[in-house]
Amino acid sequence: MSEQKTCKEAEWEIHPITPETGAEIVGAELSGKLNEEQIRLLRETLARHKVLFFRGQNHLDDEGQEAFAALLGQPFAHPTVPVKAGSGYILELDSHHGGRADQWHTDVTFVDEYPSASILRSVVAPGAGGDTIWANTVAAYNSLPQELKVLAESLWALHSNDFDYAVSAERKGIAVTEERNYRNVFASTVYETEHPLVRVLPDSGEKSLLLGNFAKRILNVSASASDHLLQLFQEHITRLNHTVRWRWEEGDVVIWDNRATQHVAVNDYGRQHRIVRRVTLAGDIPVSAQGERSRVRSASAPRLQTQPDSASA
Ligand SMILES: [Fe+2]
Repeated sequence: MSEQKTCKEAEWEIHPITPETGAEIVGAELSGKLNEEQIRLLRETLARHKVLFFRGQNHLDDEGQEAFAALLGQPFAHPTVPVKAGSGYILELDSHHGGRADQWHTDVTFVDEYPSASILRSVVAPGAGGDTIWANTVAAYNSLPQELKVLAESLWALHSNDFDYAVSAERKGIAVTEERNYRNVFASTVYETEHPLVRVLPDSGEKSLLLGNFAKRILNVSASASDHLLQLFQEHITRLNHTVRWRWEEGDVVIWDNRATQHVAVNDYGRQHRIVRRVTLAGDIPVSAQGERSRVRSASAPRLQTQPDSASA
């Protein structure tokens, strides 16, 4: 699917945004009532393009978003941030309450079974700014020189939520108390997990670089070497060739493969209001190129629990 493609069964058009990363699906009306063929197509297209974009899904409410998500996988709630009131699994990021994910990250990598995918819906979009950018971490692995692939496959990193990716020291015009409150909730339980720098994706066998802002240090090397290695690989992942950028409109829905991407919300919109709501889908424990599984380090960190099915899911 390297060029525009029409799926007659689903009556959707697939428009790739870059050759490797991101595709807009035109003609889809997302809901909890999609048929098996449409779900199969979504899974295939997500595996190919890593990020899928849908305009004009204004008919969706929280319940509809959760019902749609449940067709793609098992939704679960964030380990520390309470779900939005009245919802089963929704994480709301509200720019007026400290919710600005303005550092490159993969969602929830501080636990071992971090989400396989995220489904984000725009509820309030700034008039300008607040775009989200995704980086394709499979493409990033593939474009490494062979010597650096070998090095990456030998490395492990410690991931933790002890620093809140949604807080930026460079933020302007946002009350400090809002940031502090959000940060305190986000790290109310500290999780620490050791992940390989390269994980092998279970379905495709593709290799994906696993870093982002929850990766605090490379294990078994000096602090200085860790800093250099994190910078080397993180800068490679976020090279423009590996990215796709989306200008939000209210009612847009974006689905990303959270095992094959990082993302960042550009924090350029000042006091304009921005609200997005996210449902994440349960993932699996990463496996390294050598067949070793990620391991939880923090003794105090409970296992990530999926919630029982809610009435809306
Ligand atoms: Fe995120």
